[in-house]
Amino acid sequence: MRRLPLIERYRDMLPVTGATPVVSLGEGTTPLVPLTRLSERLGLEVHAKLEGMNPTGSFKDRGMTVAMTKAVEEGATAVICASTGNTSASAAAYAARAGLRAAVVIPGGKIAAGKLAQALVHGAIVLAMEGNFDEALHVVRELVERRPIALVNNLNPYRLEGQKTGAWEICDDLGDAPDVLCIPVGNAGNITAYSLGFAAYRDAGRSTRLPRLLGFLAAGSAPLVIGHKVEHPETVATAIRIGNPARWRQAVEALDESDGLITAVSDDDILAAWHLLAKREGVWVEPASATGLAALRQQIDAGALDPAGQTAVIVLTGHGLKDPGTAVEQASAPVTLPATLAALEAYLTKQYG
Ligand code: F0G
Repeated sequence: MRRLPLIERYRDMLPVTGATPVVSLGEGTTPLVPLTRLSERLGLEVHAKLEGMNPTGSFKDRGMTVAMTKAVEEGATAVICASTGNTSASAAAYAARAGLRAAVVIPGGKIAAGKLAQALVHGAIVLAMEGNFDEALHVVRELVERRPIALVNNLNPYRLEGQKTGAWEICDDLGDAPDVLCIPVGNAGNITAYSLGFAAYRDAGRSTRLPRLLGFLAAGSAPLVIGHKVEHPETVATAIRIGNPARWRQAVEALDESDGLITAVSDDDILAAWHLLAKREGVWVEPASATGLAALRQQIDAGALDPAGQTAVIVLTGHGLKDPGTAVEQASAPVTLPATLAALEAYLTKQYG
């Protein structure tokens, strides 16, 4: 069966008409894979939604295909966003596809190498601001008030429309919504979109229930957990290094409605979960994406979540290739050997016996 881009697959649920000029790179329909070893270890059925399989390697493409499509339909010629990296990569690629000019504003020095490379390669104007993401977004929001440039951050409602499709695919694959959905939170757009998505699907009679939403932040940048802005957010999970989420209020509403939970996990726990996914399940994600698993483990260990009979989906938001720097820092260097059979055999015998 031909794999449809998400605007085609869910056309009846999205804000497009037959005349809308769709901008697509074949996004969506990402794999939902059972994590068998982790399921055994944690005592519940865990599935991972591999969002790193989208065209630019993160879930951002779901929202970007709709935002860019609508920008073209509405006559825009240029787009802009502030980003911790993935939004800028996606905006740059989809703008190239659409023939629009793109400018992306990133926090200087705090963006993973793969994401920076993507924005540059696709020909966007890349501006590194001396400040963090929150400051960059503030300036960009002011600019679009003054200039006719389309904002493609998740403040753009079409981004959320597209990101709802992640929830719909999960329902389609499992036959209904899972008991629990675990998701990392940065600017709080994705958790808001998933919540709206699950509700819309149930209201359309395409699923029967809503999952419990569990949203997770990194301890060094956890405004929703501590209840106030964080001036200088810090975490190894640079994608969610955000101190003042734009969709704060909606995320809190979504959590209340779903009897949800929001909590923070330490960088050490994030990296432990990141190693576990890579080494025990063969799934390499960027550090922010491991937050969901780190926090699921934390909640089960603390007795706050009873795993018995539950089905959980963890949304793995971005591919490991996005952040090769952290991976190389975390791993031991390769072993250097002379180019001889004797050296190779001796080394492997020592390792494997
Ligand atoms: N995971 C990854 C890999 C991300 O890049 C982001 C956000 C999130 C999770 C959190 O999603 O913001 O909707 O709560 N990245 C944004 C960016 C901020 O600029 O790429 P959110």
